[in-house]
Amino acid sequence: MSDITSILIRNGDVANPEGFFKYDMAIQNGKIVAIDKSLPERAAQVLDATNKLVFPGFIDAHTHMGIPIMNTHSCDDFASGSIAAACGGVTTIGDFTVQEPGQSLRESVEIRLAKARKSHIDFALHVNVTDAPEKNLLEIPELVQSGLTAFKVFSTYRQAGMMVTWPQFRQVLKTVAENDGILCLHAEDNDLVESMTEQHVQREHFAAIYHPRSRTAEAEALAITKAAEIAGELQAPLYIVHLSSRAGLEAARAARSQGVRLYLETCPQYLALDESFYQRENGHWWITTPPLRTREDREALWQALANDEIDVVATDHCPFTIAQKEAGNGQFHLTPNGIPGVETLFPLLYTYGVTQGRISLQKLVQVLAENPARIFGLAPRKGSLQAGAEADLVIFDPQATQTIRAADLHGNADWSPYENLEIQGKIEHVFLRGNLIVENGEFVGKNIFGEHLEAQPHTASG
Ligand code: URP
Ligand code: ZN
Ligand code: ZN
Repeated sequence: MSDITSILIRNGDVANPEGFFKYDMAIQNGKIVAIDKSLPERAAQVLDATNKLVFPGFIDAHTHMGIPIMNTHSCDDFASGSIAAACGGVTTIGDFTVQEPGQSLRESVEIRLAKARKSHIDFALHVNVTDAPEKNLLEIPELVQSGLTAFKVFSTYRQAGMMVTWPQFRQVLKTVAENDGILCLHAEDNDLVESMTEQHVQREHFAAIYHPRSRTAEAEALAITKAAEIAGELQAPLYIVHLSSRAGLEAARAARSQGVRLYLETCPQYLALDESFYQRENGHWWITTPPLRTREDREALWQALANDEIDVVATDHCPFTIAQKEAGNGQFHLTPNGIPGVETLFPLLYTYGVTQGRISLQKLVQVLAENPARIFGLAPRKGSLQAGAEADLVIFDPQATQTIRAADLHGNADWSPYENLEIQGKIEHVFLRGNLIVENGEFVGKNIFGEHLEAQPHTASG
């Protein structure tokens, strides 16, 4: 380390795998170069972090910036979505490619990459396999070698042309695992979902509450059971996205007890909200898939998070404006599905998890940084504060209090599912590779652009 470092963060409570400790941290050329009890004050910029918590930049492993759904697009593109993310302390997103019919996977990646270049934070791309899975298998080895190691399939959305059948799922999972990739699954049993949806629509049950009654917890559990059986036979790891229910959790538990390697992700909406939101006047705004569930489901997910059963919390950020939601004309099955969340990920988990005693601060760091970095092959570059890692960090004042208001958030949605919730603490500064992108809570990084992160292969230790 040369004598003069570019930034010295002094006297913060710094996250480390054993807990939070009073440390100084030196940053140079975008990397953390030293962390110690006391470092010499020779730096171009010194930032006093006394009484502040210092976290690694958070990773939201599940976002959908500007994706096509129901004749419209989710309303954040990579520029607006990444600004919202940064203001919420998220410095890396894992976003999904969109494979149009007839496109190769490589083409879908290149098109998505061109859009993602507008991002102001770093990003990994997860490769959606939604068309011609058999043909796509041939592309998987080359994609993994080029740093695209995460793939995703849906066991539902047949009518939108995105579903894989179970035999196709088996083939994709086998090929991804053989090439040291990791497959993500949106798990809902499509037959069950389609038959329940049809029954309700035929009876003109259009209200938002029929969304959870069509896309049931049982449909989630059934798909997890089927997928896990195949993963077990193939001895392949499998990552379940947006787990929403106790039944789904129990299906995953049963599979794990048989030795199946499952990673589980849940989202803040399943931890902070419940299906009573669908009974509100504007209940259809909360239509997201899988749906919000019961309070019992919510408590089961909190417990599972505390018990190390859930590996990752990510948002499934897929926002629509009120006008876009209204285009569904109050009919649950015609309402664009998805809600905003990337900016409120950490604040909600900190307030409703840590300050309310449901999870420890270290657990929060694991599920928002360490685990997604490890599972998606981004560690040690991302996900922890250690010498040699990239200087993505969040400086947080735990004393402040705030109220969530859509008007104060930075994405393009003109409403928030969490409007009026009280939040403990305030994100003050955020650095991306040593660049200050949020200062005193405001985004200042418009000339900073994110990098595409090439991921390491997913190993057994992942
Ligand atoms: O409703 C949602 N979550 N829309 C985005 C696509 C998905 O299923 O994750
Ligand atoms: Zn999904
Ligand atoms: Zn999603």
